[in-house]
Amino acid sequence: MADFVLQITEWYRLNARALPWRETKNAYFIWLSEIILQQTRVDQGMKYYFSFVTNFPTVEQLALADEEQVLKLWQGLGYYSRARNLHKTAQQVTEQFNGVFPASYEDLLSLKGVGPYTAAAIASFAFDLPHAVVDGNVYRILSRYFGIDLPIDSTEGKKAFQELASELIPANDPALFNQSVMEFGALQCTPTNPSCETCVLLQSCASGKNERWKERPVKSKKTAVRDRFFHYFHIEHEGKIAVTKRVDKDVWQHLYEFPMIETLSAELLESDLAQFPVQNMDFATVSSSKHILSHQRIYATFHRLTITKPSDLEHFEANDIGSFHELPIHRLMHRYVEKYMN
Ligand code: ADE
Repeated sequence: MADFVLQITEWYRLNARALPWRETKNAYFIWLSEIILQQTRVDQGMKYYFSFVTNFPTVEQLALADEEQVLKLWQGLGYYSRARNLHKTAQQVTEQFNGVFPASYEDLLSLKGVGPYTAAAIASFAFDLPHAVVDGNVYRILSRYFGIDLPIDSTEGKKAFQELASELIPANDPALFNQSVMEFGALQCTPTNPSCETCVLLQSCASGKNERWKERPVKSKKTAVRDRFFHYFHIEHEGKIAVTKRVDKDVWQHLYEFPMIETLSAELLESDLAQFPVQNMDFATVSSSKHILSHQRIYATFHRLTITKPSDLEHFEANDIGSFHELPIHRLMHRYVEKYMN
């Protein structure tokens, strides 16, 4: 076990990328980076990190921002409930902790949207507390290196990995260990095609020489994925465009999009069209794409609808084109707008 810690931290010293959130002890900045990196990879996350720390240099400034501004800066990252939680957590820190990020693991855990993983990351990176992070990287590396086949989605498995990581983390530099495991998971021991041939841990690894890494980590269940079919209607008339805000407890809550119909299969039937506020629709299909979320596959089709009477636009919230471009929209919409509206 000591070898594992020594080798992985040594590997980190030689191979780590210089990342801005590793060069600060500011708990607020570290928290921002962790929330962003739960949602995207390091290379893409960088620009979001800079945009948040520049627009909101302190947690109070984020707390006082408009929700729409926060969603707009988050745009493109997906999973917008994280952005709303981010905003609420900033308000919580401002109100309950006088704008100072709490410096204990337990207080960090009391923050909205901060679970054991994020609390351990902030506690170790900002305050040098010996809390081990346990995330997908940790499950993957520990299950492969130590040859552990307990399912990571079982209570027993979760407990065993948490205990092992807590035993491994050295009290004298917990931040270094946590960063090392994350970086090793991102660069070396990747989910598919890990670089075993160049790995410094290969000699003592239980999975590198026999390709057992393919079977680890073990999961007991597969997550169910649901297919959904969304038909969007791009309706523009005399400088105005129809938009709606998603209000239901569903994907992309509070974000804007074109008026749409959700259908039960790929086809758009007469009976589907009958629910739409505009009748006798004249439309042409512009694009079709598949959008994969964690538990849903969304098949989206965008149609350009020509309206024959201006009063048809009154069924929707009609925005000026200019102000439409300021609204927070989800990734699927964003791709369409980038490609077909510029
Ligand atoms: N992913 C999550 N947290 C990270 C960090 N601090 N550095 C690099 N990748 C990460």
